[in-house]
Amino acid sequence: MSSHRISGVKFRYYSCFIICPSVPYALASCLCLYAAPTTPMSIIIKNPQEIEEMRLACRLAAEVLDFIGPYVKAGITTGELDRLCADYMRNVQHTTSATLHYQPPGYPPYPASVCISLNHQVCHGIPGPKTLKKDDILNIDVTVITPNGFFGDNSRMFIVGDGSILARRLCQVALECMWLGIATVRAGARLGDIGHAIQRHAEGNGFSVVREFCGHGIGRHFHEDPQVLHYGKPGSGPELRPGMIFTIEPMINAGQAAITELPDGWTIVTKDRKLSAQWEHTILVTETGAEVLTLSAACEPPPKLISGPLADSTRTTIETLPSAPPLP
Ligand code: MF3
Ligand code: CO
Ligand code: CO
Repeated sequence: MSSHRISGVKFRYYSCFIICPSVPYALASCLCLYAAPTTPMSIIIKNPQEIEEMRLACRLAAEVLDFIGPYVKAGITTGELDRLCADYMRNVQHTTSATLHYQPPGYPPYPASVCISLNHQVCHGIPGPKTLKKDDILNIDVTVITPNGFFGDNSRMFIVGDGSILARRLCQVALECMWLGIATVRAGARLGDIGHAIQRHAEGNGFSVVREFCGHGIGRHFHEDPQVLHYGKPGSGPELRPGMIFTIEPMINAGQAAITELPDGWTIVTKDRKLSAQWEHTILVTETGAEVLTLSAACEPPPKLISGPLADSTRTTIETLPSAPPLP
């Protein structure tokens, strides 16, 4: 997330970040200077014990979203949603927020426990006094750290009330984009296959893919190699191997792909101020496909256009979820 100017291009070094579209994958990755325990382009293969730790971290990250869902209603502020998540992580889960005080080089410390990005905000929105109103759409992005030091990362869209037809379609297409990306994952596939599937579906529906931010490897660190671009060419990029764990988190815009950063140093908005939507899962590459580690009781199931084994992605029954308890 630190940014430097190289040949007039703003690079970002941190995954869910960076990317210069004109820089080939390997070079973009070499430019990745954030403090990761990896050499450029070295993707960690997790061992069975680490995979078990990641299953836990990711389940907990998903359960924060399950918890907060019922509170997302007109009248609540995004700051109150943040506080509820923070209390749940600390007091119920005994996890730590990975975003609170997170400070990549050149950035101010991130001031909240979750990211909440409203309407035309693309990502990294800062929760605050803004009150939710009917037809707002928002992304809540939760990354937890377990007591053993493993990171789980996921985000979902929420619609306040019914939402406009455009908002509903954007959220649905973005969900489909993420799942179509996930559906390409298996040992032997390539990273570019994921981006291609996402880009094709987004643009085929008249929407655009944000270029400057990408998915990322994750494990004992928030952002590891590889950088998972949400656009690209099939058959390009590194080969996927069993034991790799990374996020897929496409940001899809209703209008143009261009983005701007707000003066708070964090919030990213669409340049044309049209709506943006994002979903994020953390994925384990297996011999035969993908294991989605951030599934949970209330997460959105795979959309209808996903067939095969992924379509049955297990989520525990949603009926057992309590309705929103009163605000503490
Ligand atoms: N959770 C985001 C991601 O998907 C990163 C948020 S960093 C923050 O990678 F500092 F903005 F919180
Ligand atoms: Co992420
Ligand atoms: Co995230």
